[in-house]
Amino acid sequence: TPATGEAKVSTVTGDKIVLGHVGSLTGNEATWGDTSDKGFKLAIEEQNKKGGIKGKKIELKTLDDQGKPEEAAVATTRLITQDKVSVLLGEVASSRSLAMAPLAESNLVPMISHASTNPRVTKDGSKTRSYVFRTCFIDPFQGTVMAKFTHENLKITKVAVLKDVGNDYSVGLSQFFTDKYKALGGSIIAEQSFKAGDQDFKAQLTSIKTKNPDAIYVPGYYTDVALIARQARELGMKQPLLGGDGWVSEKLFEIAKGALDGSYFSSHYSEDDPSPVVQEFIAKYKAAYNGSIPDAYATLGYDTARLTFDALERAKDLSGPSIRDAIEATKDFKVVTGSISFDADHNPVKSAVVLGIEKNKSKFAATVAP
Ligand code: PHE
Repeated sequence: TPATGEAKVSTVTGDKIVLGHVGSLTGNEATWGDTSDKGFKLAIEEQNKKGGIKGKKIELKTLDDQGKPEEAAVATTRLITQDKVSVLLGEVASSRSLAMAPLAESNLVPMISHASTNPRVTKDGSKTRSYVFRTCFIDPFQGTVMAKFTHENLKITKVAVLKDVGNDYSVGLSQFFTDKYKALGGSIIAEQSFKAGDQDFKAQLTSIKTKNPDAIYVPGYYTDVALIARQARELGMKQPLLGGDGWVSEKLFEIAKGALDGSYFSSHYSEDDPSPVVQEFIAKYKAAYNGSIPDAYATLGYDTARLTFDALERAKDLSGPSIRDAIEATKDFKVVTGSISFDADHNPVKSAVVLGIEKNKSKFAATVAP
């Protein structure tokens, strides 16, 4: 962390507080930028109706990074230098948040990722990034959740791993899953890799098929995973696929067309959760957005905006360092996806859910507490 004296500390001078969202509004992961933005906006509208914060209206400035880390860095710099944002929100993907985090840090602008689960986002080597926070669980936990579910609930003992080698999230999560699954007594009998955007996965799948695993762990993002599932079925493979929060998107089902039935993935929330906070949020979101159901990123976006407001209210002034201190001091703040207090590495301790896929739709299967 630079000493406060080295970077320019900026504060809010006008009559509004600007928040900056960096997200993938176009490209292969476009649903993530879109639903996250809807979640942020719903919370902002509610807050502005209540009079804003410290007498100022909240405004959201959203920039598209096209799903590319380089563009996320460009957008972050623009939001900091031109738009003078008070807090940066985003990204979903860890590879993009990793491009944003050093810029937040060096410019003393707090950043909260609502959905990046790779540990390195908030921790650079052994050092916690002082301006960077997240409101979702991290991959060592998400990997453990699926390893346990696979071993204990599905009672499966032989798994193949198919990972996206160009993606920090996919590489990390594969490792965390593998470590835990082996510790529980399971075997990883095949390992194959791909790169996001590949169209043909048949060589890797054919090689996996010869080993005959009981399931295939594919911690990729939804477009790739859906194509992988279809090609696996074309090759006559009947095994369930297993995955993580990269699967979260309505598009997963549109592309998979049923090929993922019988598969499972870990995520941040379930729309089937009967608890009143979840159901009230879903009702508000549906009313605001033409009946559409919030996905995990919309929900985490809404939660993160609300946590940001709470910190802005408590901050002793609206400078970056003061807002940072207030975010760090967040204690048991109740949100739709649980309750948030930050640990020493700026990660919350939260439960995960496992969703199963039936008839080309996801259904709640289990909640796993830390
Ligand atoms: N939580 C994931 C991450 O941190 C979301 C994601 C999955 C992004 C797969 C890209 C690909 O990166």
